[in-house]
Amino acid sequence: MRRTFIAGNWKMTQTRSEAVALAQGIVQQLGDTSIEVAVAPPSVYLDAVSQATKGSNVGLSAQNMYHEANGAFTGEISASMLLDLGCKYVILGHSERRHILGETDTDVNRKVHAAIAAGLVPIVCVGETLDEREAGQTQSVVQQQCDGSLAGLTNEQMSGVVIAYEPVWAIGTGKVATPEQAEEVHADLRKLLETRYNSDVAAAVRIQYGGSVKPDNAGDLLGQPNIDGALVGGASLKVDSFLGIIAAAK
Ligand code: 13P
Repeated sequence: MRRTFIAGNWKMTQTRSEAVALAQGIVQQLGDTSIEVAVAPPSVYLDAVSQATKGSNVGLSAQNMYHEANGAFTGEISASMLLDLGCKYVILGHSERRHILGETDTDVNRKVHAAIAAGLVPIVCVGETLDEREAGQTQSVVQQQCDGSLAGLTNEQMSGVVIAYEPVWAIGTGKVATPEQAEEVHADLRKLLETRYNSDVAAAVRIQYGGSVKPDNAGDLLGQPNIDGALVGGASLKVDSFLGIIAAAK
């Protein structure tokens, strides 16, 4: 059985005190849950949020990292630094990094290998733009992103990776994919994992949906057989709405 995994991607928002208060609010109100929960604050607040979530059932995720272990890479952060701060997960290849900052599948693939080698769980994002969807290219685009971003992983390594399907047109737009649209892509992705790896890997990998997930649409999305969680942007920035999504997942 795949454990449902809800993660909040705070992106480049929050002040330090807001980030700490948000983390504290989630920790205090979450209580016992069978759902896996994580928050991904901006990297400069990872340390503060790590203190706020320490010993709780809220895991810590980074939003990005660099693939090199250390050295002269001004402005970059390594996997071991993230571990040092208490991170368990790292989001890699988010569409904002792919489309705004020019990250390629090759870049993402290097990061995925470095993250796994260091002991972090990568949350690898894939998803088509509106033009690609309208041109009927959704399946080929997400397959290509998966093949490129996940190249060279062993079956065992792949089993521990989390994939986030985030259609670009649904991110921050309020235009959520219908449960059927999302499930179709998730089912295709699981078939791809079976083809590229094997049925055990396909059964083990968690595939989150991301893109305008809110408390009122989360239940229908998470009720789909191949949707194993959510990567939440805007609705993860308020304790109530994030906890509402977690409640809908139960
Ligand atoms: P929204 O939930 O704000 O659409 O953002 C989704 C996302 O990009 C999460 O990584």
